Amino acid sequence: MTPSYEECRQSFDWSQSARELGYEDGQPINIGWYCSDRICEQGLGQKPALIWEDNGGREATFTFDDIRDRSDAIAAHLASLGIERGERVCIFMDRLPELYIGFLGVLKLGAVVQPLFSAFGEESLGVRLENAETCCVITQMKHVRKVRRARKTMPFLRHVIVVDGQGKDLKEGESAMTMTELEHPADFRCAETGPEDFSVLHYTSGTTGQPKGAQHVHSSLISQYITAKWVLDLRPDDIYWCNADPGWVTGTSYGIIGPWANGITQVVLDAGFNSDAWYAFMARHEVTVWYSAPTAIRLLMRDGTELVKKHDLSSLRHLCSVGEPLNAEAVIWSEEAFGKPFHDTYWQTETGCMVITNWPGMKVKPGSMGKPFPGIEAAVVDPKTGEAITEPGKVGIIALAPGWPSMIRGYRNNQAGWDKKFLNGWYLCGDQGSIDQDGYFWFSGRDDDVINTGGHLVGPFEIESALLEHEAVAESAAVATPDTVNMEVVKAFVVLKPGFEPSDDLDLAIMNFIRKKLSPLAMPQQIEFIDQLPKTRSGKIIRRILRAQEFGEDIGDVSTLMNDDD
Ligand code: WTA
Repeated sequence: MTPSYEECRQSFDWSQSARELGYEDGQPINIGWYCSDRICEQGLGQKPALIWEDNGGREATFTFDDIRDRSDAIAAHLASLGIERGERVCIFMDRLPELYIGFLGVLKLGAVVQPLFSAFGEESLGVRLENAETCCVITQMKHVRKVRRARKTMPFLRHVIVVDGQGKDLKEGESAMTMTELEHPADFRCAETGPEDFSVLHYTSGTTGQPKGAQHVHSSLISQYITAKWVLDLRPDDIYWCNADPGWVTGTSYGIIGPWANGITQVVLDAGFNSDAWYAFMARHEVTVWYSAPTAIRLLMRDGTELVKKHDLSSLRHLCSVGEPLNAEAVIWSEEAFGKPFHDTYWQTETGCMVITNWPGMKVKPGSMGKPFPGIEAAVVDPKTGEAITEPGKVGIIALAPGWPSMIRGYRNNQAGWDKKFLNGWYLCGDQGSIDQDGYFWFSGRDDDVINTGGHLVGPFEIESALLEHEAVAESAAVATPDTVNMEVVKAFVVLKPGFEPSDDLDLAIMNFIRKKLSPLAMPQQIEFIDQLPKTRSGKIIRRILRAQEFGEDIGDVSTLMNDDD
């Protein structure tokens, strides 16, 4: 049971979490070991760790003993290929059991695991593999072609492992690995990684430049373990469902590490969104704790409460949400539909764990993100001075005092980008928000040009660079436009090259071009052909003007935006 917020806020120290994990300074700490071996050592080896289903009716259950043995075997297999500690191993596949168990395996080898969203096209995949200098990609037949195209220019990528590649036509440098057939290595020893050794590498988008590689370390476990336990209110008999894909941080911090470090059984559904199927899945497995996202909740709302009532969801005890603003209506609807509110949680790839949360048992103010997790010092600061704003309700930049265990240790090969995240001793989240008189945080919007579509961040630069590769495009700007389900979707303003005329066909051709190269998320849902883009005096595109038009906001004095001082 989660203790009271006030009590924790007064006395909490991260060392309390380390103590619960039985971890002492100076000892090795390996997330793979903590998520499997340690749970088995506690006598829970026979407990289901992963209950998996896909939409084709296939099912599989893996106990903690199973995930321990199989992750050991995967680690040993990677070692036999010559993959070494510290090297980057990408997992690029749908939500197959191999993704979850392979994640632990890579960590047990002491290598860095780089999970990438399987809907990525060859270019989105390629820039991330390039930046990470990834030595191995673990994938499935369905996606191997994208890997083949991306790796053409990558001598560092030595191995492609295909988990369903047995008996298939594989190319040079590719090999099959059938997880269930791997021998368990009797003499396997988990890598004795240190607290500051890199563990997970997630890519996140900013306004400028290509995506940034957020470098997590093994001691992030100390934050992820306790936040999962308390904020998700996890209890030993829970059946937990996190519907985020491990290609994104929610799907690893709380879709693998948090629950398994707590010895919790989790269910995974490898299928797209479908309200009826989701409810049936939860009813069938008697899910008790559910971590979801506003876009999914809005889709469920659209299908109505009648559908909810068709299923027995009485097992549900606690609901949480992350990734985008959870509007008050969604909280109120969930009370009506499930008899309990969704609890909003706020955090980022860079924070590694939830930082502002609606604590179980604490009064929920619909529309608010809640209060800082004990152990996290959060504020709203002036964007110019970095001074904390004390006036209730006044909007500033959401900021955190650095130093909690799961804060990333920087962006890979991008120190300058990381340095820019700090002001006056605060880590700046890059979001605008305010704090009310009761200490609750309220989100206002992002402070940059990143587009949050359905809870996934998409960088305008990546889209614009890809657009430039289309033969008809001279210049472009990618901005957010409002959407009733995804909150925001991508809209591209395009200036055509001479000789090209706007048409519906061209529109579609450009959309498809981006969908294939990047992903369905990055694909512009709308394209507007214009003669000229708004620019600063030195020629930088001012996306903010276009965005404001889309949202019907007043941008104020445009001439100040024309200066280049930002
Ligand atoms: C946004 C996802 C409003 C925010 C865990 C943040 C939110 C970005 C919330 C991080 C929330 C996340 N309310 N906005 N509860 N949670 N965001 O790195 O803009 O993929 O900076 O991490 O999502 O997205 P990321």
